[in-house]
Parts: sequence; C-alpha cells; structure tokens
Amino acid sequence: MPSIVFVSPKGGAGKTTSALILATQIAKQGIGVTIIDADPNHPIKLWAQGDVPPKNLAIVSDVTEANIADQIAEAAGKTPFVVVDLEGTAATIVAYAISEADFVIIPTQGSQLDAEQASKALRLIRAHERGIQKHKPAYRLPYSVLFTRTSPAITSRDTKHVRNSFKNADVTCFQTELNERAAFKAMFSFRQPLETLDPKEVSNIPQAIKNAEEYTREVIAAIRSAKAVEPAGKAKQ
Ligand SMILES: Nc1ncnc2c1ncn2[C@@H]1O[C@H](COP(=O)(O)OP(=O)(O)O)[C@@H](O)[C@H]1O
Ligand SMILES: [Mg+2]
Repeated sequence: MPSIVFVSPKGGAGKTTSALILATQIAKQGIGVTIIDADPNHPIKLWAQGDVPPKNLAIVSDVTEANIADQIAEAAGKTPFVVVDLEGTAATIVAYAISEADFVIIPTQGSQLDAEQASKALRLIRAHERGIQKHKPAYRLPYSVLFTRTSPAITSRDTKHVRNSFKNADVTCFQTELNERAAFKAMFSFRQPLETLDPKEVSNIPQAIKNAEEYTREVIAAIRSAKAVEPAGKAKQ
C-alpha cells in the first residue's frame, strides 16, 4: 500500500522512466517498493540485472492480464509501496491494473498530440470510477498528469498551452516536470540508479537527482492528501 499505476496509451510517453525514478527514489529512503514490470519487454527486470543489486526493491515480472490484479494486491501486502509499469497498448491489462490502483500517474510529453493520448488514459480512469460509483457515489480514483522530457531551461509554449487546457478541464497535473536529462536515460544504459552513475560518463547527475527527489516528494504528498479526503472505507471492487 499504496499502489501507483503509470498509465498512458502512448509508447515513449515516459512511463517506464518515471516509474523507475519514483521506485528507486522511494527505495533510497529505506522504504520497501515492489515494481510490477508488466511490459512484456521487461525493461525494469533488465535494469535490475545490473552490477549493483537494487536495495529495498522487489521486481515482479511474471505478469499477465489474468494475474495482474492479484500480483498488485499481493505486492501491496508485502511492501509499503507498489509501482506498476504497463506496456500501454493492451487495454484490458491496463483496466485490471487501474482497478487495483490507489493513485494513477499519466506521463505525457508537453505537446498537444501527446496530451490527446493522455486524455485517453483519463477516460479509462473515468470509466473505472463510473463502475464503482454505482454503489459508492462519492468514489474518485486520484490521479495526476506528469509532464516528462521537458526542457530544464525553458517552459515551451506548447507545454504552457497544454497545462492550461488541462487546468480548464479540471485535470490535475503535477507542478514538477521530469526534465529531459541524460542521467534518466543513462539509468537504463548502465542499469544503475541515478546515485551510482559515473559523473565522468554522464552529465548533470546532481540536477537529475534533485529533479527526481522533487518529483517523488510531490507524488508522495499527492497520495497523502488524496488519502486524507478518501471517503470512509476502501472503494475497491
Ligand atoms: N525524462 C527523460 N529524460 C531523458 N530521456 C527520457 C526521459 N523520459 C523518457 N526518456 C527516454 O524516452 C524513451 C521512452 O521512454 P520510456 O520511459 O521507455 O516510455 P514508455 O515507457 O512510456 O514507453 C526512452 O528512450 C527513455 O530513455
Ligand atoms: Mg515502458
């Protein structure tokens, strides 16, 4: 508990990267995390096979449409946090994962086209909510859009515009953006967390760590405040 599910139908939106950053940052604080690696290419399982065995981090990659809900529930009984990385395209497994989620993060790059893909993820959340609202009218599944791969130097006009349209549509977005950073890519190339990357090989590691920490703080604060307003009783199917 809680289970955080990354959802976006678009490949390349930054799901795997932002899921791994969140999980490794929580684990760094000495808190146990399970990552459910539901992408058939298993990018996170491969990452975990690097030279430095990840601490406080369990990876579950034996995941199918049939067992994902059980895998999430089982992991939630074992570690304080569960992070779910999905492939994005197969709709049914995404719906099952959402049904076990306590919080959904929708990563998106800052352009209009990307935002339209993010809206598809929002529709899945709304559909899930409608199902539960039939017997629990006050139920909401907390979520937030996360802007990824944005420039650390400037906010592009595109991103500003997309942020505004989400705001006008009452769509919650994290203030913190995950910037485009070589270190975030390098985590995968070197199969390491940010903290052990070699500054001779990768530029601006401290800036990337600062960005990762701010993002993690905001996610955890959002989960906490969502829990605080949750109607009494857990609203799961
Ligand atoms: N914040 C970031 N900075 C730099 N590269 C990124 C960032 N987010 C994603 N990428 C790169 O973009 C590509 C797609 O990201 P990924 O996390 O695999 O997306 P998804 O899981 O949604 O398909 C990968 O090559 C990844 O290294
Ligand atoms: Mg992915």
